[in-house]
Amino acid sequence: MRITDFALERYFAQYEFNTPQILCSSDIQGMAMHDLLALADDDARQRWQSLTLGYTETAGLPALRSEIAGMYHGITADDVITFAGAEEAVYIAANVLLGPGDHMITTWPGYQSLYEVGRATGADVTLLELRPEDKWKLDVDALRRAVRPNTKMILLNVPHNPTGATLSHDEWADVIAIAEAAGAYLFADEVYRLLEYNPADKLPAACERMVRGLSLGVMSKAFGLAGLRIGWLIVREPDLRAKIMAFKDYTTICNSAPSEILALIALRARVAMLARSRSIVLRNLQLFHELCIARPQQIRMVAPQAGSVAFPELLGSMPIATAAAVLQKDYGVLILPATVYGYPGNFFRAGFGKEDFALGLAKLAQFLDDTAEGAR
Ligand SMILES: Cc1ncc(COP(=O)(O)O)c(C=O)c1O
Repeated sequence: MRITDFALERYFAQYEFNTPQILCSSDIQGMAMHDLLALADDDARQRWQSLTLGYTETAGLPALRSEIAGMYHGITADDVITFAGAEEAVYIAANVLLGPGDHMITTWPGYQSLYEVGRATGADVTLLELRPEDKWKLDVDALRRAVRPNTKMILLNVPHNPTGATLSHDEWADVIAIAEAAGAYLFADEVYRLLEYNPADKLPAACERMVRGLSLGVMSKAFGLAGLRIGWLIVREPDLRAKIMAFKDYTTICNSAPSEILALIALRARVAMLARSRSIVLRNLQLFHELCIARPQQIRMVAPQAGSVAFPELLGSMPIATAAAVLQKDYGVLILPATVYGYPGNFFRAGFGKEDFALGLAKLAQFLDDTAEGAR
C-alpha cells in the first residue's frame, strides 16, 4: 500500500525531541512508571510481578478488555479489541472496511490518518470543512447531504483534534440517525472523550447507540500514558471483529505484554488518572485564555469545549509558518502551524497537556512582545 506522508507526525519527528517547550502536544504529560505502579491493586501488582514476556492474545489481555468494557454501557469484553495505540485501530479498520467503490465521510482539518488511510484503500473520501465562524462545529446538515448510496463509513472525531469542539447531545443523536439511515458504520474517534470541561457535555459512545458504532479509545490522551501504545476499538459485530483480528496478524500480532498490565493498572485507577489529566489541562487552558484576553490584537481563540487542544489564530501580518519557525529556532517553543494540516489562515494548534506549559507560554508571550506590530 502507498500512502502519503503523515505531515503532523513528520513535523513532530523533526522537532518534538529537540525543542525545549512543546506548546502543541495532544497527549497529556506522561506519568512516571513509579507513580503508576503505586496505583496498582493487589491483583494487578501480582500480575506485574509474575509477568512473563511471551506473546499475548490477539484481542488483548482478557482482564484489560473487561476493564475497558466496563467503561461503556451494554458492552462486554468480547466486543473489545486492543491495539498498539489508536493509530493501529484506525489503520486496520479502514483497511478492513473500505476499498475502491466505497465512500467515506469525515471532517477537515483533522488528524490526517482519519482520512489518509481511507484514501489509500482506494475509497472515495469526502472532507467536510470545519470553520471558525461555526465555532469549528460539524454542520450536521452538510453531513446529511454528503451521504451517498455507497457511503460505507462516517468517521467523526468527537471531541475534536485540533479544535477542541464537540457536538451537542441533539446533534450527536442526529449523526447517529444519519449513519443508521445510510446503513453506514459510524467510526467514532473518541480518544478525547472523558476530557469534557463540563461533564454534562460527555456524549454517549457511538457503540452504545448503534450496532455499527465503532468507538475508538486510547491510553494516550485522557489517561496520560502515550508510551504504553495501547488503544482499543469496540466492535459489536462478530464477523467484523474476526476480520479485524485477522488483519492484525499482519501489523503487530499482539500487544506488548507489560503495556497491557500497566494499562490495566491505570484503568482500574481511572478516577485518579482522569482527575490528574483534567487538572493539568484546565490549569493550562486558563493560562492560555488569560494570554488571549491580555492580547486581543495579537491572538484569538474559539474556546475549546473538551480535550487537550485548541486551534487559536495569530493575528497580524506574520504568516503562521514563519512564526512557528521563529518560535522553534529562537525561543525554543514548538507550536503546530495550520500549514501542517494544509489549512489556510494563521491558525495553530495549542496543546494543554504538558506540566511545563507555563514556561512555554511565557516564551510565546515574549515572542508576541518582540514582534508586536509597531514594536522595535
Ligand atoms: C484524533 C486522534 N486519533 C487518533 C490518534 C492516535 O492516537 P495514538 O497516538 O495514541 O495511537 C490521535 C493522536 O494524536 C488523535 O489525535
